[in-house]
Amino acid sequence: MARRVAGVHVGRIRVLDDHLVNRIAAGEVVERPASVVKELVENSLDAGATAIDVAVEDGGRRRILVTDDGEGMGRDDALLALERHATSKLARFEDLDAIATLGFRGEALPSIAAVSRFLLRTAPAGGDGTEIEARAGRIAGVRPVARERGTTIEVGGIFFNVPARRKFLRAAPTELAHVVRMVSHYALAHPAIRFRLDHDGKRLLDAPQAADRAERIAQVHGRAIAKTLIPFARDAGGIRVRGFAGRPVDASPRRDAQHLFVNGRLVQDRVLAHAIHEAYGDTVPRGHYPTLLLFLDVDPARVDVNVHPQKTEVRFARSSEIHDAVRDTLAGALSSTRAVPRFAELRPSPEPAPAMALAGVAEPAASHYAAAPPPESLLAEGSPAVDDGRRAVPLAQYRDSYIVAQDRDGLLLVDQHVAHERVLFERYLADAERDEVGVQRLLFPKTIELTADEAILLEAEAGEFARLGFVLEPFGDRAVKVDGVPAVAKTVAPERLLRELLGEAARTRSTTAGATELRRRLVTSASCQAAIKVNYPLAYDGMQRLLDDLFCTENPTTCPHGRPILFRLTLEDIERAFRRR
Ligand SMILES: Nc1ncnc2c1ncn2[C@@H]1O[C@H](COP(=O)(O)OP(=O)(O)OP(=O)(O)O)[C@@H](O)[C@H]1O
Ligand SMILES: [Mg+2]
Repeated sequence: MARRVAGVHVGRIRVLDDHLVNRIAAGEVVERPASVVKELVENSLDAGATAIDVAVEDGGRRRILVTDDGEGMGRDDALLALERHATSKLARFEDLDAIATLGFRGEALPSIAAVSRFLLRTAPAGGDGTEIEARAGRIAGVRPVARERGTTIEVGGIFFNVPARRKFLRAAPTELAHVVRMVSHYALAHPAIRFRLDHDGKRLLDAPQAADRAERIAQVHGRAIAKTLIPFARDAGGIRVRGFAGRPVDASPRRDAQHLFVNGRLVQDRVLAHAIHEAYGDTVPRGHYPTLLLFLDVDPARVDVNVHPQKTEVRFARSSEIHDAVRDTLAGALSSTRAVPRFAELRPSPEPAPAMALAGVAEPAASHYAAAPPPESLLAEGSPAVDDGRRAVPLAQYRDSYIVAQDRDGLLLVDQHVAHERVLFERYLADAERDEVGVQRLLFPKTIELTADEAILLEAEAGEFARLGFVLEPFGDRAVKVDGVPAVAKTVAPERLLRELLGEAARTRSTTAGATELRRRLVTSASCQAAIKVNYPLAYDGMQRLLDDLFCTENPTTCPHGRPILFRLTLEDIERAFRRR
């Protein structure tokens, strides 16, 4: 093949010119208006700004403007900033191992400029201001300009020169929603910095300098939501975990209610997501996400931030330590009594409650909670005190369904069915895990006809059913003889119990859930069936026993399906209601 040594061509491979390279890089860095906002805000933060103003028009499709009062740039630096791989943040190769700034690639500004009409105005403290204009990455003008210390960047007509990309922009409201989320994220992460966001001349966010994160959350999300969040903090072994956790009852199907920051950088991370999932455990229904603000600070040498073009993913060294620290801190905070929702704080749930087999009419001899009928009048005896060993004492049963109780913080209203379900669930699951499930032998073994599907399923999961306390014997091809059932569910008709569980197993197998999830769901279903129902009178002692058992569980506030178990009316709520405060 001809090879022209001194010419432009060397074979068919050539070095791309800078404009083309920037446009290609823009494809990775700039996805939509919100990604431009992200890069510009990060630059402002890196420049030490104390106030950042963002303004967008038409959801950012027409114009994006970011102004800061940071350190600014002199003329030469400003010109360099638009060059590819020009950065003031990284000088040596070793610096890459411990990046303390948000930016480090020297790639954002040239990439953004390559796909827009770009205007930069900047001035360093006490120095002259410079204005640089660029179109599709080519500098169109450089002139002096009068301005205070700081930087303003205006990005017009994003992707105006890349029609194929412009086509993928969504309608203004969608793009705006992404911008709002982005600015909110950074505002939450940096309470000491003033943030403002305008859209088409209308102020959407105004967050003046805040004393702390709690105040900033109130500015961004409103006081009502801020009050429901549970703060958490832990600092150990070089891992600092702080933040605010939403209560399980307030979880919503929106994944974007979770904001994770690693060393001030907004990230998406599987390790952290998993830790959060484990901390909430089964208190949140499937497909629901609790609100969460998590700030993780670790030695920068332990995180590799250079794994994603938009810098939204990280990699941790010794990630299991970080995983466990986050999980344990969060779980600790969630187990606090504050996780019990107060009536006054209840927010209407945006989605209907998850489906569950609704508790129906009472079944006889449900459990040891039901004994003699309740004493004539509990209240006549005076309200019992919460003594030291007890978390809560019952006052009465309402409509044979809800226990009215008191604890140190107020009045509790407890749904007896889900409370019992929670108690059974935890015991049963723990027993199954230790392979110690109690079996109730049937006096009269029961033969059950199965459908072909059920028979196949039962054969495949025979081990799991045995572990869960079923003593089964095949009886021909399509029938099974039940000799024993789990003692926890002995009050449920064996046939119904088995069929329900087979149905649950079939639903679980059609998803990608693993063996642990299958067991959890079977145990949930059995516990739900075996738990005392509503419309079922309880004796006083029975209520006390149920409350005692409930408060021994790990999650006394939500049932395994994710529904709330109890609500609290605090003394403060009561006093407010009666205008005593
Ligand atoms: N708002 C600003 N105030 C002061 N200097 C800025 C500002 N924005 C950019 N700069 C300067 O311009 C340089 C280039 O910015 P750019 O965002 O392209 O790269 P970076 O932030 O260094 O790295 P990354 O591509 O990872 O964001 C920065 O290193 C910084 O010196
Ligand atoms: Mg940058």
